[in-house]
Amino acid sequence: MFEHVQPAPPDPILGLTEAWKRDPNPRKVNLGAGVYQDDSGHTPVLPSVKAAETVVLGRETTKTYLPILGEPAFAREVTQLVFKSVPDRVRVAYAPGGTGALRVGADLVTAVLGRGRRVWVSQPTWPNHPGLFTAAGYEVQPYPYYDPSTQSLRRTELFRALETAQEGDVVVLHVTCHNPTGVDLDPDDWARLIELASRRRWLPFLDAAYLGFDRGLDEDAEPLRRWLDSGLEFMAAVSFSKNMGLYRERVGALVAAAMDPERASALATHMQRVIRVLFSNAVGHGQQVAVEVLSDPLLRDMWRREVTAMRDRIAGVRQRLVQALSARIRDRDWSFIERQRGLFSYTGLTEAQVDHLRERYSIYMTRDGRVNVAGITSANLEYVADAIADAIRTVS
Ligand code: LMR
Repeated sequence: MFEHVQPAPPDPILGLTEAWKRDPNPRKVNLGAGVYQDDSGHTPVLPSVKAAETVVLGRETTKTYLPILGEPAFAREVTQLVFKSVPDRVRVAYAPGGTGALRVGADLVTAVLGRGRRVWVSQPTWPNHPGLFTAAGYEVQPYPYYDPSTQSLRRTELFRALETAQEGDVVVLHVTCHNPTGVDLDPDDWARLIELASRRRWLPFLDAAYLGFDRGLDEDAEPLRRWLDSGLEFMAAVSFSKNMGLYRERVGALVAAAMDPERASALATHMQRVIRVLFSNAVGHGQQVAVEVLSDPLLRDMWRREVTAMRDRIAGVRQRLVQALSARIRDRDWSFIERQRGLFSYTGLTEAQVDHLRERYSIYMTRDGRVNVAGITSANLEYVADAIADAIRTVS
């Protein structure tokens, strides 16, 4: 049966980490996958998470199944975090990470609205967006988003495209720290999008994978509260991979807002059916850890400080990278790196330059020139800046 099977290409993001691990060069640098690292290049278990895990493990007396959608406490804490309230027209399902939440949401929409749907994703976007929506049977339609010549939003084209989105289309919008560009929508853009969704009757799917990595946990969740206040239906995928450092525990939530509590409850029954056939029911450990962090006032404060520290380190690295590159390549303005938000910088490096950095210097980044800024440390900053300068001078 499998004799004609050819190997699939490696994942454009997670495959880089595997290639980097295999690289024998002692100076190798991994700027690929969006994973926070401290200044020693380590991805720590956050102390708040460590403390919560001790509590959770100590208290645990059974491994029996959780409810399909997860613990009610998880739903409560997620909505408290993002909405600062527990809205009665919203339902939450545990999902394995942001990816799991997106897939559950994708399947939920086809379950209630029917198959053969269209989804709009930003151009460019995280490559897993088209991948997972295609796997869920959607037709994927890009909308203009980023202009490389100005390193900013293609606002006019974006609104023109979404003006043509049809009733029942899904539109994926990055809530904060756009992946891969680091260029975000501003409050006026969100207001216009709300008006557009209401008029054109498309369904926003808000991807919130990086809450806390731009301005703060509360500030970054502001667009979610605006959609809630609008009274419109929407969905959101919330991830705790980055802001709680729970990557491998796969902790995320699908948030769905209906017009009223009755319809929200009806939607939740479809969430249950979707999850039942995808992974049966909620995974316990990471979810319980997140609940403990979010519900214990001491742990919550500790966690908020940890998120601030991660954010501050990233901002500091951006500043030092701009200085290091400006000193080496004087005829380019590198200040855009400080304007971009979150873990990533979209450097504008070409595929040939990215390949040169990998082949010559064992510096790994995605082929679109996206750099995980948190992978830059005091120990490798000069090396990375020298290598980028060489790539720009010698390869076009
Ligand atoms: C990334 O874009 O690097 C992260 O979101 C990790 C992933 O799952 O791709």
